[in-house]
Amino acid sequence: MIKTKQHQLTMRPRRLRRSPQLRAMVRETSLSADDFIYPLFVTHGEKVRHPIASMPGIAQLSVDQAVIEAEEAAALGVPAVILFGIPAHKDPIGLENFAPEGIVQQAIRAIKTAVPHLLVITDVCLCEYTDHGHCGLLDEMGNVLNDETLDVLVDTAVSHAQAGADIVAPSGMMDGMVAAIRAGLDDAGFTQIPVMSYAVKYASAFYGPFRDAADGAPKFGDRKTHQMDPANVREALREAQLDVAEGADFLMVKPGLPYLDVIRTIHDNYPELPLVAYNVSGEYAMIKAAAANGWLDEERVVLETLLGFKRAGADLIITYHALDAARWLRKIKD
Ligand code: PBG
Repeated sequence: MIKTKQHQLTMRPRRLRRSPQLRAMVRETSLSADDFIYPLFVTHGEKVRHPIASMPGIAQLSVDQAVIEAEEAAALGVPAVILFGIPAHKDPIGLENFAPEGIVQQAIRAIKTAVPHLLVITDVCLCEYTDHGHCGLLDEMGNVLNDETLDVLVDTAVSHAQAGADIVAPSGMMDGMVAAIRAGLDDAGFTQIPVMSYAVKYASAFYGPFRDAADGAPKFGDRKTHQMDPANVREALREAQLDVAEGADFLMVKPGLPYLDVIRTIHDNYPELPLVAYNVSGEYAMIKAAAANGWLDEERVVLETLLGFKRAGADLIITYHALDAARWLRKIKD
């Protein structure tokens, strides 16, 4: 039996949930295409679209195809792309990383020519370029050398800036990488190019599909001597503090979903810098796999996930869902 008597409740939170208009009025967090950064994997050749099996909808693209994707991103209101390069040859140093005709340098020039207002961010790391797949130069024992690697990172960042990159994003977790790159850019006259630091990057199994996409898996060993232990959050504060002191213009937390507490902590402690969350390849793959099986509603789950990053304190989200999400948001608005 349904009782007709009304209880004397003073607080009725449901009063504010009664209609779409009321819900919109009290909504605390918003999501829009402006929040997204779309990753592109660029490879040599022409008219190449090489799909990545573990990342449905994402492909390695030749420069001409990357331009088409970049135009699409801009048309959807996505403000930036982040480029990852797949070089023609790999060697112990990763020479193509800072070659004027390197794949990323070509892609930057082509995208900036075709869509000048789209921001081009570049990932600055060694792992896609080295034959051993590590994020730095190695000694004879196979240890990643920190300071020697910084020189390569500086050359790479400057080379990207010379090709026209708007922002450089060092992702290798070398100590002092932000200070070295800042000094290198300044010396080369690029005082206005911001550094988006992958400040807090964990040694995560969620990068699995990316390593197929960018062909950058380490040939032996792992990244635990430079990437962070997933158990640590105080150490995240230390990493962020150093990068702020070294002149980082943006901070990043990566991966995203299993680290929402870290995003919140960094946001609360460094509210003065824009914070980026990286919704990484493994997070993307999980949703795509579940959606392909009909187990989840892809559109709703993706938008809820991206909103979660914003609610946790991220200002920007690097996400492979960027174009789909921008399309869905546009449809909802119309
Ligand atoms: C390193 C880099 C990686 C990712 C972004 N930059 C791989 C790694 O650290 O092993 C992973 C991104 C993703 O999983 O989507 N250049």
